[in-house]
Parts: sequence; C-alpha cells; structure tokens
Amino acid sequence: MLQGKKILLAISGSIAAYKATVLTRLLIKEGVEVKIIMTAAAKEFVSPLTLSTLSKNKVLCDLAVNDSWANHVALGRWADIILIAPLSCNTLAKMAAGLCDNLLMAVYLSATCKVVVAPAMDEDMWLHPSTKNNLNQVIAFGNAVIPVESGELASGLTGEGRMAEPVCIVQWLNNYFTPHQPLLGKHAMVTAGPTYEQIDPVRFIGNYSSGKMGIAIAKELMLQGAEVTLILGPTTLATPEKLYNLIRVKTAAEMYTACSAAFSTMDIAVMSAAVADYTPVETQSEKIKKSNDTFSIDLTKTKDILKYLGQIKRIDQLTIGFALETNEEEAYAKKKLAEKNADMIILNSLNDAGAGFGHDTNKITIFERSGSTRHFDVKPKEEVARDIVNTIIKLKNALPKN
Ligand code: CTP
Repeated sequence: MLQGKKILLAISGSIAAYKATVLTRLLIKEGVEVKIIMTAAAKEFVSPLTLSTLSKNKVLCDLAVNDSWANHVALGRWADIILIAPLSCNTLAKMAAGLCDNLLMAVYLSATCKVVVAPAMDEDMWLHPSTKNNLNQVIAFGNAVIPVESGELASGLTGEGRMAEPVCIVQWLNNYFTPHQPLLGKHAMVTAGPTYEQIDPVRFIGNYSSGKMGIAIAKELMLQGAEVTLILGPTTLATPEKLYNLIRVKTAAEMYTACSAAFSTMDIAVMSAAVADYTPVETQSEKIKKSNDTFSIDLTKTKDILKYLGQIKRIDQLTIGFALETNEEEAYAKKKLAEKNADMIILNSLNDAGAGFGHDTNKITIFERSGSTRHFDVKPKEEVARDIVNTIIKLKNALPKN
C-alpha cells in the first residue's frame, strides 16, 4: 500500500531521533520515496549524512543555505503525508501556537497534505497539562497522532512517552493509505436513466431523466468496495469504469427482466431509474401517419420493479427507491416507502431549485423504514451519492448477516 507514496519525514530534537534511521530504512523497503528535514536540535541526536544516505535524498535543515532558499511550500506540496517523528515537546508547542522559526515549522504551516506526528518525550513532560493542551490543539487542527508507547525512557525511568516503534509507524501509515471499504465483497445493482416505451418505429414515451444521479451512486458504491451491476436506460452519458456488469436496456419491461434476473445475487438494489408507469398496449410496426385532429394511444401499466423486489427480498437484502414529486412530497414519499416495502426512499422535489432531472446538483430527503427522516442541502450529485451510500452502509450494518 505504501509503494510509490511520497513521505516527508520531519525529525525534531529527541533521543528517539535515532529511530528515524530504522524508520527510513523500513519506508524505503516498502517502496516509499522519502525526503527528510530536520531541526537543529535533531542533528545533535542523528547525523544528516546517515539519513541522506539511507533516504537517497539530500537532508534539509535550514530555511536558507548559502543564500539559496529551501522551498518549504514545494516540499509540503510534494508530500502525500508529512510525518513528524519524533515530535519533541518543543515542536509540539510551536505547532499548537503556529510559530515559524525553522524549516520544519515553515513546511508544517504551509502543508496542504495530511500531517501525522509521533510524539516522544519523558513521562513527566508527556503528562504535563500544557503538553495535553498542545496535543489537543494540534489534533483539533486536523493532524493525526500515532500514540506513544510505555516502556523504558531516556531518563532511566519507565513510563509513557516513548515514540512508537518504527514498525508500528509503518503499520499506521499502511492502514492510513488502505482505503476502508465497508462494502467490500457486497453486490449492488443500480438502475439509472429513463426508459423509452416504443409507440412506432420513430416515436416513444420517455422522460427527462439523464441517469446522472444513478451513475453517481454506482460510482460511490464501487468506491466503498461493492461490485456494481448498472442497469441503464437510454442515455449518452459515459458509464463508470470497472463495473461488475453493465446491462443496457430500453423499455420498462426490459429493465424488469434484467432486475429480476440479477436480484437474487444482490445485497443492495438502488432503483434510481425513472421507469415509465405506462407503455403502449401495442407497438405499431409502421410509422403512424397524421390523420384526425385528436389522437389517443391505449396504454397499459408497466410492472413496478421496486415493488416487486420489495415483495421477494430476503431479510439480508436492501431495496432503495426514489420519489420525484411535485406536490405533497413527504406524504407521497412515505406512501412509496410502505407500499413498495423499501428500506429507504430518497425524495427529490421539483419545487427545490437545483433538484431533479438533468442538473449536476440535487437536494434530497431520506426516509428510512425506521421512521427517520433527514433533509440534506443542495449539493453536487457526487456528494449526494455519498450521503445516500453512507446511509445504505448504515442500514446494511444493521441487517442480519446471510
Ligand atoms: N419504479 C420502478 N418500476 C416502475 C415505476 C417506478 O421500479 N414501474 C421505481 C422507481 O425507480 C423509483 C420508485 O419506484 O425508485 C418510485 O418511482 P416514481 O415514478 O416516483 O413512483 P411511482 O411508483 O411510479 O408512482 P407515481 O408515478 O404515481 O408517483
């Protein structure tokens, strides 16, 4: 997981600085590109020459050397993560206060990537209220802390405050870079887009659905580890890469057939397609010619896919539907939740600006079977998909295992 990552190792003044040599070797063995910066105090404990040899990169210690400036902004931007190990009590206090009196602090203050610290100090310093305050402040700024260990300390005393062992730090970094995928091994199917119900060879009954919301949900489900089958109505939108299966359909009947065939192997079914409720009783094989002033077509109801899946689902399967409404939105959404035996209904109201078909944004309310109702702000469809998938994960975790 660490292969190819760029880690800026920042070493501050502590006896634990000697462990930076082992840490550097372990990181290099993992395939990490390591650059190192040090404070003046750190140089008292470990030599820049040793570290530059191990990291295969020049070690930087000062903001300027021989009138040439060490570009701290570029260093911070180069790194995927800045690891301050060991973090001394003094550097911790500077981080909490925002002091900028050396290269390490200049890099830290201008960093745009994640910063993680591995503190190291004697137990009395570690337990001092000001250290606790500073640490809390640094955590509140969004930095991560690799916990200290207990054991023999430089003072000769035994207690809390030892820097985590290099292997533990590498393990922490591995965990950090391993994406947590709560839906790993799960199968999900998503319907998206409109359906086209054929009237004659040149005409159809369709709707304005673009498929954007469903495709965003499919992508988010994949990001969370699910194998996704996308059952897609007619749309020109690009489909996500690495789908488990892509089934293109045109009509509501074709969507029904595809969904019923796939459902038994699914853990999750998200019905975001705008399925036609009615289809012509007959499709004319030849183009209908213009004749009378008025004209009507006999329509018959399509099969309600979400309702059908709600009837046949096992207790370990989730069914999720949408409700696009123009009036009495909440009442209709709750009715659909009950009538279709869904675990969750996502309501869009056409009365909300930025919601509904074709937009890049959406505004949703999520109704859960438990009775919970949550309103969300207008957001890009990718973020809306994240809110929906997070709720799916929560519901999935609460289901009995199959
Ligand atoms: N749906 C479905 N099959 C249908 C019709 C709808 O699976 N034949 C699904 C949609 O994908 C959506 C949910 O049911 O997830 C609600 O769709 P919607 O069109 O809002 O509701 P309808 O049940 O069709 O009711 P109405 O059109 O009267 O609002």
